[in-house]
Amino acid sequence: MPDYQIEHWDGPRCISQADIFAAFLDKVLPDDWSNFAEKLSGRRSLNAHVALDGRGQLLGLKLGYERNRGVFNSWIGGVGEEARGQGIAAALMAAQHAWAKEAGFRGLETATRQPNRAMAILNLKAGYLISGLDATAGEPTKILYYKSL
Ligand SMILES: CC(C)(COP(=O)(O)OP(=O)(O)OC[C@H]1O[C@@H](n2cnc3c(N)ncnc32)[C@H](O)[C@@H]1OP(=O)(O)O)[C@@H](O)C(=O)NCCC(=O)NCCS
Repeated sequence: MPDYQIEHWDGPRCISQADIFAAFLDKVLPDDWSNFAEKLSGRRSLNAHVALDGRGQLLGLKLGYERNRGVFNSWIGGVGEEARGQGIAAALMAAQHAWAKEAGFRGLETATRQPNRAMAILNLKAGYLISGLDATAGEPTKILYYKSL
Protein backbone atom coordinates (compact mmCIF):
# COMPACT_ATOMS: atom_id res chain seq x y z
CA MET A 1 0.00 0.00 0.00
CA PRO A 2 1.39 3.44 -0.91
CA ASP A 3 1.75 5.77 2.09
CA TYR A 4 0.22 8.71 0.25
CA GLN A 5 -3.16 9.65 -1.10
CA ILE A 6 -4.15 11.56 -4.21
CA GLU A 7 -6.73 14.35 -4.09
CA HIS A 8 -8.24 16.48 -6.82
CA TRP A 9 -8.36 20.22 -6.04
CA ASP A 10 -10.53 22.58 -8.07
CA GLY A 11 -9.44 26.04 -9.27
CA PRO A 12 -10.59 28.10 -6.24
CA ARG A 13 -8.82 25.67 -3.91
CA CYS A 14 -5.64 25.89 -6.00
CA ILE A 15 -5.73 29.68 -5.79
CA SER A 16 -6.33 29.59 -2.03
CA GLN A 17 -3.37 27.20 -1.66
CA ALA A 18 -1.13 29.11 -4.08
CA ASP A 19 1.43 30.04 -1.41
CA ILE A 20 1.81 26.39 -0.39
CA PHE A 21 2.19 25.38 -4.04
CA ALA A 22 4.77 28.15 -4.62
CA ALA A 23 6.83 27.09 -1.57
CA PHE A 24 6.72 23.47 -2.76
CA LEU A 25 7.65 24.39 -6.34
CA ASP A 26 10.54 26.54 -5.10
CA LYS A 27 12.09 23.31 -3.78
CA VAL A 28 11.34 20.90 -6.64
CA LEU A 29 11.44 23.20 -9.66
CA PRO A 30 13.36 26.39 -8.84
CA ASP A 31 11.95 29.29 -10.85
CA ASP A 32 10.11 32.54 -10.19
CA TRP A 33 6.95 31.42 -8.35
CA SER A 34 6.21 34.84 -6.85
CA ASN A 35 2.61 36.13 -7.02
CA PHE A 36 1.55 32.60 -7.85
CA ALA A 37 -2.12 33.18 -6.93
CA GLU A 38 -2.20 35.97 -9.52
CA LYS A 39 -0.56 33.74 -12.12
CA LEU A 40 -3.23 31.08 -11.51
CA SER A 41 -6.25 33.33 -11.54
CA GLY A 42 -8.31 33.58 -14.70
CA ARG A 43 -7.07 30.30 -16.14
CA ARG A 44 -9.87 28.16 -17.59
CA SER A 45 -10.54 24.81 -15.93
CA LEU A 46 -7.66 25.32 -13.50
CA ASN A 47 -7.23 22.31 -11.23
CA ALA A 48 -4.59 20.17 -9.59
CA HIS A 49 -3.98 16.63 -8.48
CA VAL A 50 -1.95 16.49 -5.29
CA ALA A 51 -0.29 13.67 -3.40
CA LEU A 52 -0.47 14.10 0.38
CA ASP A 53 1.21 12.21 3.17
CA GLY A 54 -0.64 10.99 6.28
CA ARG A 55 -0.33 14.44 7.88
CA GLY A 56 -1.72 16.22 4.83
CA GLN A 57 1.69 17.54 3.72
CA LEU A 58 2.27 17.98 0.01
CA LEU A 59 4.46 15.27 -1.53
CA GLY A 60 3.61 15.85 -5.17
CA LEU A 61 1.67 18.12 -7.48
CA LYS A 62 0.34 18.10 -11.04
CA LEU A 63 -1.40 21.30 -12.08
CA GLY A 64 -2.96 22.40 -15.33
CA TYR A 65 -5.61 24.41 -17.14
CA GLU A 66 -7.28 24.69 -20.53
CA ARG A 67 -5.15 26.85 -22.84
CA ASN A 68 -6.36 25.72 -26.27
CA ARG A 69 -10.07 24.88 -26.48
CA GLY A 70 -10.77 21.23 -25.69
CA VAL A 71 -7.13 20.46 -24.83
CA PHE A 72 -5.95 20.33 -21.23
CA ASN A 73 -2.51 21.84 -20.68
CA SER A 74 -0.60 19.90 -18.02
CA TRP A 75 1.50 22.86 -16.97
CA ILE A 76 3.51 22.08 -13.85
CA GLY A 77 4.40 18.99 -11.89
CA GLY A 78 6.84 17.77 -9.32
CA VAL A 79 7.46 15.37 -6.49
CA GLY A 80 9.43 16.23 -3.34
CA GLU A 81 12.93 14.78 -3.36
CA GLU A 82 12.25 12.66 -0.28
CA ALA A 83 9.23 11.03 -1.96
CA ARG A 84 10.67 10.21 -5.40
CA GLY A 85 10.90 6.75 -6.90
CA GLN A 86 7.63 5.47 -5.41
CA GLY A 87 5.46 5.99 -8.47
CA ILE A 88 3.89 9.25 -7.23
CA ALA A 89 4.48 11.22 -10.44
CA ALA A 90 3.10 8.35 -12.53
CA ALA A 91 0.05 8.08 -10.24
CA LEU A 92 -0.58 11.84 -10.44
CA MET A 93 -0.41 11.72 -14.23
CA ALA A 94 -2.78 8.75 -14.41
CA ALA A 95 -5.25 10.59 -12.15
CA GLN A 96 -4.97 13.80 -14.19
CA HIS A 97 -5.44 12.01 -17.51
CA ALA A 98 -8.47 10.05 -16.23
CA TRP A 99 -9.96 13.32 -14.94
CA ALA A 100 -9.36 15.14 -18.26
CA LYS A 101 -11.00 12.34 -20.25
CA GLU A 102 -13.99 12.26 -17.89
CA ALA A 103 -14.25 16.07 -18.12
CA GLY A 104 -14.57 15.78 -21.93
CA PHE A 105 -11.18 17.05 -23.12
CA ARG A 106 -10.09 15.62 -26.49
CA GLY A 107 -6.40 15.73 -25.64
CA LEU A 108 -3.61 16.80 -23.32
CA GLU A 109 -0.57 18.95 -24.03
CA THR A 110 2.57 19.46 -22.02
CA ALA A 111 6.15 20.66 -22.40
CA THR A 112 9.44 19.84 -20.74
CA ARG A 113 12.83 21.47 -20.83
CA GLN A 114 14.96 19.49 -23.26
CA PRO A 115 17.42 18.00 -20.72
CA ASN A 116 14.65 16.73 -18.39
CA ARG A 117 15.14 13.03 -19.09
CA ALA A 118 12.92 11.83 -16.19
CA MET A 119 9.90 13.83 -17.41
CA ALA A 120 10.49 12.78 -21.03
CA ILE A 121 10.41 9.12 -19.96
CA LEU A 122 7.35 9.67 -17.77
CA ASN A 123 5.50 11.51 -20.54
CA LEU A 124 6.20 8.82 -23.13
CA LYS A 125 5.22 6.05 -20.69
CA ALA A 126 1.94 7.91 -20.00
CA GLY A 127 1.02 7.91 -23.69
CA TYR A 128 2.21 11.33 -24.85
CA LEU A 129 3.88 11.66 -28.26
CA ILE A 130 6.41 14.36 -29.12
CA SER A 131 4.59 17.03 -31.12
CA GLY A 132 7.25 19.68 -31.55
CA LEU A 133 10.21 21.62 -30.30
CA ASP A 134 10.20 25.17 -28.98
CA ALA A 135 13.67 26.55 -29.65
CA THR A 136 13.03 30.24 -29.05
CA ALA A 137 16.31 32.19 -28.96
CA GLY A 138 17.40 33.10 -25.44
CA GLU A 139 14.99 30.63 -23.80
CA PRO A 140 15.59 27.05 -22.64
CA THR A 141 14.71 24.63 -25.45
CA LYS A 142 11.48 22.77 -24.75
CA ILE A 143 10.11 19.50 -26.08
CA LEU A 144 6.34 19.67 -26.71
CA TYR A 145 4.04 16.67 -26.21
CA TYR A 146 0.44 15.80 -27.10
CA LYS A 147 -1.74 12.89 -25.99
CA SER A 148 -5.05 12.17 -27.63
CA LEU A 149 -7.72 11.04 -25.17
C1 LIG B 1 10.35 13.94 -12.62
C2 LIG B 1 9.69 13.64 -11.29
C3 LIG B 1 8.33 14.33 -11.27
C4 LIG B 1 9.51 12.11 -11.12
O1 LIG B 1 8.78 11.86 -9.91
P1 LIG B 1 8.72 10.39 -9.23
O2 LIG B 1 7.52 10.36 -8.34
O3 LIG B 1 10.03 10.07 -8.62
O4 LIG B 1 8.48 9.45 -10.51
P2 LIG B 1 7.87 7.98 -10.49
O5 LIG B 1 8.35 7.27 -9.29
O6 LIG B 1 6.39 8.07 -10.68
O7 LIG B 1 8.53 7.38 -11.81
C5 LIG B 1 7.77 6.76 -12.82
C6 LIG B 1 8.70 6.38 -13.96
O8 LIG B 1 9.31 7.55 -14.51
C7 LIG B 1 10.67 7.26 -14.87
N1 LIG B 1 11.58 8.08 -14.05
C8 LIG B 1 11.28 8.75 -12.91
N2 LIG B 1 12.35 9.41 -12.45
C9 LIG B 1 13.37 9.13 -13.31
C10 LIG B 1 14.73 9.55 -13.40
N3 LIG B 1 15.28 10.38 -12.49
N4 LIG B 1 15.47 9.10 -14.46
C11 LIG B 1 14.93 8.29 -15.39
N5 LIG B 1 13.63 7.86 -15.35
C12 LIG B 1 12.87 8.28 -14.35
C13 LIG B 1 10.89 5.79 -14.62
O9 LIG B 1 10.57 5.12 -15.81
C14 LIG B 1 9.85 5.50 -13.55
O10 LIG B 1 9.41 4.17 -13.57
P3 LIG B 1 10.23 3.04 -12.75
O11 LIG B 1 10.36 3.56 -11.35
O12 LIG B 1 9.34 1.85 -12.88
O13 LIG B 1 11.53 2.92 -13.43
C15 LIG B 1 10.56 14.16 -10.11
O14 LIG B 1 11.88 13.66 -10.26
C16 LIG B 1 10.63 15.68 -10.02
O15 LIG B 1 9.78 16.28 -9.38
N6 LIG B 1 11.64 16.31 -10.67
C17 LIG B 1 11.83 17.75 -10.57
C18 LIG B 1 10.66 18.55 -11.08
C19 LIG B 1 10.37 18.36 -12.56
O16 LIG B 1 11.25 18.04 -13.35
N7 LIG B 1 9.10 18.61 -12.92
C20 LIG B 1 8.65 18.55 -14.27
C21 LIG B 1 8.73 19.87 -14.92
S1 LIG B 1 7.87 19.86 -16.48
